[in-house]
Amino acid sequence: MHSNGKEKWILYSTSDEDNTSELRALNINPDDRVISVTGSGCRTLSLLTQNPRSVVSVDYSPGQNYLLELKLAAIRALSYDELLAFFGVDECKTRWKIFESLQAKISPEAAAYFRRHRPAIENGILFSGRHERFYVRLVAPMVHLLFGRQLKKIFSCSSIEEQEKIYKEELDGRLWRWLIRNGFSERTLRLILNDDKYHIEIDVPSIGDYMLERLNHTFSHHLAKDNHWVSFMFNGRYPNRTCLPHFLLYENYDAIRRATTTVTPFTGNLIHYLQTLPDHSVDKFSLSDVTSCINKEEFNALLDEVYRTGRAGASVCYRNFLAKYSVTSGSDARMRREDAVSSALDRDDLAFVYSFEVATIAAS
Ligand SMILES: C[S@@+](CC[C@H](N)C(=O)[O-])C[C@H]1O[C@@H](n2cnc3c(N)ncnc32)[C@H](O)[C@@H]1O
Repeated sequence: MHSNGKEKWILYSTSDEDNTSELRALNINPDDRVISVTGSGCRTLSLLTQNPRSVVSVDYSPGQNYLLELKLAAIRALSYDELLAFFGVDECKTRWKIFESLQAKISPEAAAYFRRHRPAIENGILFSGRHERFYVRLVAPMVHLLFGRQLKKIFSCSSIEEQEKIYKEELDGRLWRWLIRNGFSERTLRLILNDDKYHIEIDVPSIGDYMLERLNHTFSHHLAKDNHWVSFMFNGRYPNRTCLPHFLLYENYDAIRRATTTVTPFTGNLIHYLQTLPDHSVDKFSLSDVTSCINKEEFNALLDEVYRTGRAGASVCYRNFLAKYSVTSGSDARMRREDAVSSALDRDDLAFVYSFEVATIAAS
């Protein structure tokens, strides 16, 4: 399960997703055997709030699975106040001491990995991924320098109408558009991801225009002050305890602690892992935006395995960022796309850059 740990530092340390979407799509129940893609670990943890029978959380980057181990151990061992302090949401001077108290509760490989990255623990692990540092160090300071006054107004709005008006009249001007178009280019993405395992497929005509359209959507549908991802993107932190990723809200922390789910992190390629499973042995698939990292051929191989390993009636949910892979792009109608749910999640997901594919596996 673990490699020698001599890999790049983790890319994702906090959720850039709204995991209420997967919960709506998958309707998880206590008998479910779930496959999840790990990433930051946040979505896998959110799935545990529904106490499924088992979750295998797969990622080919060992560090992402080590992070899942650490987050789960911290949730189980720490009080809510300690947890938020340890993760970096609240101030704390004793994060390393807390880490030392958790070491025996994670695998020796995970403990050794984080011992090699002590500053990341000391600075708050949630904000230390390579992807998160881009927002903390660059995006948030820059947008505050250029648009601090407008953002302050936006984050204090308590109605969508008021927020939409400020966004359209005071923020969405020439400079903003220039910044978004240039900040979210293919070059920037490659710079942030900096991972040769990643295949970047782009199915939208212009990334900048796509981002502007999605920002327009989010500022006219979701209140920024209640949106953990928008808050993090533009402030580089979570401003308060009601604006946290789903798994970190108090009631969900509590549900995760009570969950009796068997959680197994698996380090390796998702498709290869599925190939080891028997037919019809999975009830739910939460595949995140794995489509951002694989080419069409791999995607079709993934669908083949999802279809083979899913039981009839199993649910599948994944997010598409720039690669817009359809769940019905496989060879036949093996999966029934759930159009209504998929569209509802496109509209409601607070992380706004994603579109959704939700499907039910037909009987073979
Ligand atoms: C694009 S990220 C998603 C991060 C996510 N948005 C979050 O908030 O955690 C997808 C994750 O899937 C992993 N991954 C991508 N392709 C994979 C594959 N074929 N097998 C296993 N893991 C994969 C990557 O290492 C990464 O951690």
